[in-house]
Amino acid sequence: MKNVATKWFGLVSGLLLMSGTALAQDPPAPDGAALYKGKCKVCHGEDGTRTPAGEKKDAPEKLGPGVAKMSVEDIAKLVKEGKEKMPKFEGKLTDAEIQAVSKWTKDNIK
Ligand code: HEC
Repeated sequence: MKNVATKWFGLVSGLLLMSGTALAQDPPAPDGAALYKGKCKVCHGEDGTRTPAGEKKDAPEKLGPGVAKMSVEDIAKLVKEGKEKMPKFEGKLTDAEIQAVSKWTKDNIK
């Protein structure tokens, strides 16, 4: 009997340990680069040079100079709320995703 109890204890604590690790890794940090490619590139281009689609919406010709004057928080607010013909991403991206794509934009679009 003692043996069975020990086995169960081992099994249960093993499971707890596993779910503990799974929780610690979940959710993975959103990939800002992939989000930019998926959501922003269509108007602002890979490197911040606007595309024909962006031109139709009156997006700035170059994103870099605007980004240089903005903080990550400024960008995140703009992405979340939209501006003029830029769509708002609230409800389409999570706060963590908005944060990640804003930080990526700040660091990579010059
Ligand atoms: C449908 C086209 C479109 C998409 C998609 C889009 N934008 Fe924009 N974006 C615009 C337009 C239009 C403006 C200009 C808004 C204005 O009139 O001030 C703009 C402005 C900006 C600005 C401010 C630039 C400046 O000089 O003031 C930033 C930063 C920006 N966008 C980042 C992003 C990011 C990051 C994404 C992806 C999450 C994104 N945009 C997706 C159209 C778009």
